[in-house]
Amino acid sequence: MSESSSNNLEQAKQAGKYIRTIRSFVKREGRLTKGQAAALEKCWATMGLEHKDGMLDLAAVFGNSNDVVLEIGFGMGKSLVEMAKNAPQLNFIGIEVHRPGVGACLMDADAAGITNLRVFEHDAVEVLADCIADNSLSTLQLFFPDPWHKKRHHKRRIVQPDFVEKLRSKLKIGGVFHMATDWENYAEHMLEVMQSAEKFKNQSTSNDYVPRPETRPLTKFEQRGHRLGHGVWDLMFARTN
Ligand SMILES: C[S@@+](CC[C@H](N)C(=O)[O-])C[C@H]1O[C@@H](n2cnc3c(N)ncnc32)[C@H](O)[C@@H]1O
Repeated sequence: MSESSSNNLEQAKQAGKYIRTIRSFVKREGRLTKGQAAALEKCWATMGLEHKDGMLDLAAVFGNSNDVVLEIGFGMGKSLVEMAKNAPQLNFIGIEVHRPGVGACLMDADAAGITNLRVFEHDAVEVLADCIADNSLSTLQLFFPDPWHKKRHHKRRIVQPDFVEKLRSKLKIGGVFHMATDWENYAEHMLEVMQSAEKFKNQSTSNDYVPRPETRPLTKFEQRGHRLGHGVWDLMFARTN
């Protein structure tokens, strides 16, 4: 959290106000496998980024000024590592709250020998606010975010008008926010939020969804879904201003 937002929160608490922070995740403790623990131990110094270190100088982090792709909630990191491996001309930052997922991602990244990936183990909402400069990202990725199926939980969905407005400021002009989901009701929600968001242009020629771009690896989970006749919806919106 930035100093000013944490001060505001502190002041509000002292004034006796009840501040409710709705999060898009529930922290599951989950045990680390030996491999994940070893990868965290071995790779954190080179690939780990800390929220408490504040605003990043991306060129210094990566040692170059290549375009930066940031992924929110990468799960076990399979598709993120594959994308980073396939695109050495780009830099990648992944954010995930689930520690075993971070460990798994580092394990795969280490095995693949990639140097263009860094990861945070932290809430993406806070990382974006406090560590990522405005106008700095070429792409933002959000693949299969928790759909929060029940209506009374929809407020926990990470795609909300306020959040999207904040995301826009982190993209360069022309930069793209790419979402994918296998939950139709969430796809419709994403589309509705994005159509109401200002200064974004839908990249879909039919003004709704785009075909899965080749750059987004097809996961096993998705292949299985296709076999079972389940749908997947990709949405891409570019920042216009
Ligand atoms: C349904 S999983 C999908 C994972 C992965 N993107 C995939 O396609 O397999 C959603 C992930 O987002 C993570 N997540 C949810 N909210 C988050 C937040 N605010 N910051 C970071 N990670 C978050 C969860 O921990 C979970 O691993």
